[in-house]
This record gives sequence, C-alpha cells and structure tokens, in this order.
Amino acid sequence: HRHLLGIKGLSPLDIEMLLDRADADVSISRQSEKKTSTLRGRTQINLFFEASTRTQSSFELAGKRLGADVMNMSVASSSVKKGETLIDTAMTLNAMRPDILIIRHASAGAAALLAQKVDCSVVNAGDGAHEHPTQALLDALTIRRAKGRIGGLTVAICGDISHSRVARSNIILLNALGARVRVVAPSTLLPSGISQMSVEVFNTMKEGLAGADVVMMLRLQRERMEGAMVPSVREYFRYWGLDAEKLKVAKEDALVMHPGPMNRGVEIASEIADGPQSVIQEQVEMGVAVRMAVMEALLDPRRNPDGAAI
Ligand code: CP
Repeated sequence: HRHLLGIKGLSPLDIEMLLDRADADVSISRQSEKKTSTLRGRTQINLFFEASTRTQSSFELAGKRLGADVMNMSVASSSVKKGETLIDTAMTLNAMRPDILIIRHASAGAAALLAQKVDCSVVNAGDGAHEHPTQALLDALTIRRAKGRIGGLTVAICGDISHSRVARSNIILLNALGARVRVVAPSTLLPSGISQMSVEVFNTMKEGLAGADVVMMLRLQRERMEGAMVPSVREYFRYWGLDAEKLKVAKEDALVMHPGPMNRGVEIASEIADGPQSVIQEQVEMGVAVRMAVMEALLDPRRNPDGAAI
C-alpha cells in the first residue's frame, strides 16, 4: 500500500503532479454537483487523536466528494479513554478492512508506525512537531494559483517554528520547488536543527519580511510550552505579531497566509487576517482539493503511475 507520511521523500515531480490533480479537484468542488465516483466502494477512516477543525472536516468532505464511505472515529468517546493503545486501536479498525486511514496524533512518527502495522494506505494528518504534509501541499497550491509559480519566490515563515509541523513540511516542500525560504522567529522558538534545514534565519520581522512574496504566519502553540517559556501575549504581538506596519516592508502584493487556527491579536492582527492580502480562506478551500488529490493518488490506480512515491 502507498502512504503519505511526509513531504520528505516526495520528488518535485510527485508534488507538481499532486498540485495539478488538486487544481482539477478545485473545479469539481466549485460545481453544484460535487460528487464523483472515483473512490466508490472504498472505505476511509479518520482517526484524530488531536483536535482539528480544518483537516478533519476537509478530509471528510474530500472522501465524500470522491464517493468513498467515510467514518470519523470519535476518539473522545472511544476505548482510547479506557486505556487502549494507539496500535490496538488501529489494528481494531484495520480488521474492519478500510482502504485508507487518516491519522492525527501528538507523537512524531505515529503515522509511520501505523503504516507498518495496517493493511491499507495511511495519510499523516499531523504527527507531533514532525510533519503535516497535506497542509504544505494546500499552502503550495494556494501560492501557485495566486502567483503562478513557486520557484524563485521568497517565502517568510514567521513565529513559533519550533512546535510547528506546518513549518517543517513547508520548508521541505518549498525548497523542493525552488523557493527561497526564510524563517523569522525569536531564538527561543527555533528548533535546534534549524541550521540543517536550508533556510535563512532572521531575528526581526522587519529584516525577515523585507521584499517577501509570501508571509506565512504560524500559531503560537502555548499549549505545548511550559512555565517561564510561555511568552506574554502583549509582548509577543508587539515584536512578532503581523500588523500593517510590519507587513509594509514585504512586497506590495505579498500574500498573507496562516494555516489556522489563528490567535487574533497574538501572531496576527485581525485587520491583516481579514485584509485584502490575506488568502487564509483560499487555503481552507484548497485543503479539500489537495486531500481529494492525495487520496486519488493513493487509491486510484489510474492516477498512480509506476515510479511515483505517491
Ligand atoms: N491547519 C490545521 O491543521 O488546522 P486544524 O488543526 O483545524 O485541522
């Protein structure tokens, strides 16, 4: 079975093929009749151990638009609450013969672990601070549709890099497609391995945003921080929050992105999140199309050429 566990391992051609397919799926999603039969008879299980609004609902809609039977496993009311392990839960669902399992989990490597155990395709919908591959794909699709290309663009990824699987997947994907990637963050919110990641590091928003084509803000993940490490919201917004003043130094037509959920007034001002440069709602729309494309690539042999990693 084929899996999507991360952007790492995908070739630029794999990525471009997924984005091309997703472009076609955007058209399908904009029709009044949205349902196709590509995955008719297939069973998709969404297994989310962490909260989600966008990813889970878009995977569900994507599966339904492709004609699959979709089951959302409610972890909160499942036997996980009685102490059943991740592997036992997955093996139980596996015995019901799904064709694809979509998993989100707080531990890095959870999706890869399941992929070794189950008899179906596995998609990583976010594993700890490791990867969130469909988020990076939907971000790339949003950028490509707005700018016509990704190669050669300067993308500034700003804020809480250290806890962000979104940042990690985006850094890998944007580099693969030839963008210049910057990370803009206080040193306390940079991961220790940042110097091996093919990015330029900036310690002020003014320097990091200068001349950028895309400004990608990240959520300050306070729930993953402890005690003295949690920054004050007011201080954080002053130095790292995207407001009109800071955005001015980016290109005039720079895109403003945020994967959601947003902390308004913490990493981004409301007037910018809702302003003319924001493509945050487009990102959400692209999420459904990208997830359709990924599941088609994994499950539909006609869209699965030999040699492709996905
Ligand atoms: N961007 C993202 O993964 O959002 P959710 O946590 O709401 O799925």
